[in-house]
Amino acid sequence: MSRPIGIAPSIVAADFGHLAEAIRQVEQAGAEVLHVDVMDGRYVPNISVGTIFVSALRRLTTLPLDVHLMVEDPDRHVDAFIEAGADLLTVHLETTPHLHRTLRHIRGFGRRAGVALNPTTPEDRLRYVIDELDLVLVMTVDPGSSGQSLLPSVLPKIAAVRALLDAHGVAARLEVDGGIHRGTVGSVVGAGADLLVAGSAIYDSPDPTAAVEEIRRLAFLG
Ligand code: DX5
Ligand code: ZN
Repeated sequence: MSRPIGIAPSIVAADFGHLAEAIRQVEQAGAEVLHVDVMDGRYVPNISVGTIFVSALRRLTTLPLDVHLMVEDPDRHVDAFIEAGADLLTVHLETTPHLHRTLRHIRGFGRRAGVALNPTTPEDRLRYVIDELDLVLVMTVDPGSSGQSLLPSVLPKIAAVRALLDAHGVAARLEVDGGIHRGTVGSVVGAGADLLVAGSAIYDSPDPTAAVEEIRRLAFLG
């Protein structure tokens, strides 16, 4: 597999009592970005973290912050997350009525813009915003909590998004999120993913550094 594969540890799965250490462990292992799961208790059942947490991360790491907004009406919050230090901001296609406007707004700040698709959302609509995308996030579980099992029915959609990006010559990253671990890495990379979010597989491990390294090693085997 010649495409470079990046690992995006989901920091919300870490022990917040040892946040700096949790970040250092994945930095050491060569994580490409830190993935930050923002949940509002409305779009998804759980409430997680917000702008104050992103600001704290910004002071703790130079890794790019990959902020995944699982919130209703994300347009209300984009500016605040950018100000807090998000480098990459991903909104759910299902939550944004005017997607061009949202993506252009994010890019207007010089930040990267992503669109997330829930497991039952078809990829077709991406073609209308194909030139506005820095990242497509294909959810491989229903969003809302870590530790769920990857839904195999989503694998063909990863391949379809890969084909769409390649057909248009778009260099956007193809991120997958949910249920990624040593047993599922091969299937998502084989389908075309190149940025792998992992929460429990890294932070439930006794050695998060080794867990990132193992996922990356398996990804290269693709
Ligand atoms: C799901 C979140 C994910 C999730 C990943 O709602 O977007 O980032 O926490 O956790 P694992 O890797 O444990 O499925
Ligand atoms: Zn996420």
